[in-house]
Amino acid sequence: ARKNLFSAELLKWYKRERRDLPWRRSRDPYHIWVSEIMLQQTRVDTVIPYFNRFVDRFPNPKHLADAPEEDVLKHWEGLGYYSRARNLQTAVREVVERYGGQVPDNKKDISSLKGVGPYTAGAILSIAYNQPEPAVDGNVMRVLSRYYCLDDDIAKPSTRIGMESLAQGLIPSGEAADFNQALMELGAMVCTPKSPSCPECPVRSGCVALAEGRERELPIKTKA
Ligand code: ADE
Repeated sequence: ARKNLFSAELLKWYKRERRDLPWRRSRDPYHIWVSEIMLQQTRVDTVIPYFNRFVDRFPNPKHLADAPEEDVLKHWEGLGYYSRARNLQTAVREVVERYGGQVPDNKKDISSLKGVGPYTAGAILSIAYNQPEPAVDGNVMRVLSRYYCLDDDIAKPSTRIGMESLAQGLIPSGEAADFNQALMELGAMVCTPKSPSCPECPVRSGCVALAEGRERELPIKTKA
């Protein structure tokens, strides 16, 4: 029942408060993919204009596959971490050659693509295809560490794997796309690293770290 409370309250909050971001206007798996790659090391406000220009210039995997690499890098200029752009182009070329230009809708095939790790795979499968797969990044680990007051070191792969099972079990039936984005949104807007806005949190009544006054100590992270 606690699980249902968390998920239901979080989803209600998200449907009310969600930011209108350009990639949230799309269910196109390629658009979701581009946005998630850009968002991995870059802030939302910075990503918005880059995302819009990128999908305008390269609207689908075929366009991106056929583009000269320097043109792709030009559209990435200022975002940094250029291997993200190179890997993305390598991966969409695989999508065009192996899957007829359709982004795969299953974990095995999507995870085989260059630059697509467990987080990105889960984000695409859930946000674009509404499949009940977890998409656990640092934001989500912070939310779950606090809500359940978990002392596990989030730098450890075993912790992330445990969090993925936990997050998957929380997905309300048929709501994977919104629920996963709601978790990310709570981490970005309310359950922030340094100074969380607990009085405005939709799930504060069940938050164990808040009840114990430990919200600022969590999550535990050993290495940078
Ligand atoms: N950070 C990572 N993925 C995101 C998304 N889909 N929306 C907003 N912030 C994000």
